[in-house]
Amino acid sequence: NDTLRTVGTERGFDVGAAVSAAPLRSDPGYKKTLRREFNTITAENALKMGPLRPSRHTYDFHDADAVVDFGRANDMRVRAHTLVWHNQTPEWFQEWDYTDDQLEAFLRDHVHTVAGRYRDKVDTWDVVNEAVADDGSMRETVWYDAMGEEYLDKAFQWASEVTDADLFYNDYGADGINEKSDAIYDLLERLLDRGVPIDGVGLQMHALHEKPDPESVAENIRRFQDLGLDVEITEMDVAYLPEDDPGDEAARHELQAEFYRDVVEACLETGCDTVVVWGVRDSDSWIPTWFDELTDDPLLFDAGNDPKPAYDAVKEAL
Ligand code: XIL
Repeated sequence: NDTLRTVGTERGFDVGAAVSAAPLRSDPGYKKTLRREFNTITAENALKMGPLRPSRHTYDFHDADAVVDFGRANDMRVRAHTLVWHNQTPEWFQEWDYTDDQLEAFLRDHVHTVAGRYRDKVDTWDVVNEAVADDGSMRETVWYDAMGEEYLDKAFQWASEVTDADLFYNDYGADGINEKSDAIYDLLERLLDRGVPIDGVGLQMHALHEKPDPESVAENIRRFQDLGLDVEITEMDVAYLPEDDPGDEAARHELQAEFYRDVVEACLETGCDTVVVWGVRDSDSWIPTWFDELTDDPLLFDAGNDPKPAYDAVKEAL
């Protein structure tokens, strides 16, 4: 029988899911669905700085290895997420009274060590995540405060020194044409002008409070491609506010399926070749824990590993 994986692979398309280490260890149903349906995975949390850095001079690769090894063992493309981000830094780090030079040295060591460890195992890295604020200004993070915009140049440069993986910039709320994606476009153009080794841009596509118009998504993808960048949909999920929720589950799932289909079609139409969903089953999703007001079934599979209408829609679009 056709699965997302067989249909995707057949047409050269990567269908991915974000995965966690815990169910990989304990939940055979989860692993079975992953192996059958996806040819790409990303670590939902395991490769972030918080989980990787128990203290300033140490690393804990336990969960990260579990995710990366699962991907390799199952012939999946491994998208690694993420080397530089303002969120999910370790607790000790948030209290650390560093100098700017110490911070830069710390980040360089982090990028070299983590990207270097997975040199032959990771295909793509989200090197920098969410560097631009919603209004299009540079987000004021610890990295920006210490190094200015050039923290991006440095991070991509350091990563390129230790890995051949494709190096991506990744962000949310920049899926269609808007103020934020305009700013990201300008930022990436500046990086390219400065010769920074960047290969692509990831559009997260958490369709939560707003759902971008698929035509606008296609137009946005094209302009980044015109800069010479690959574009991938990297963290898709689809949830509704009460006022947008049709109210009954069947109707909501149809609406959701339509949006998934439209985005996959926009991706295909532009030559974008990757869509990653942010979790496998609705019960794995981060949405219910993070957004009280949103509907709690944003993914392609229900809690029992059964495919939802959105699953069929993605498969048909492929
Ligand atoms: C989320 C994870 O899904 C949660 O488990 C975690 O508690 C917080 O981070 N944008 C990103 C992802 O780039 O790393 C985030 O993942 C979701 C938003």
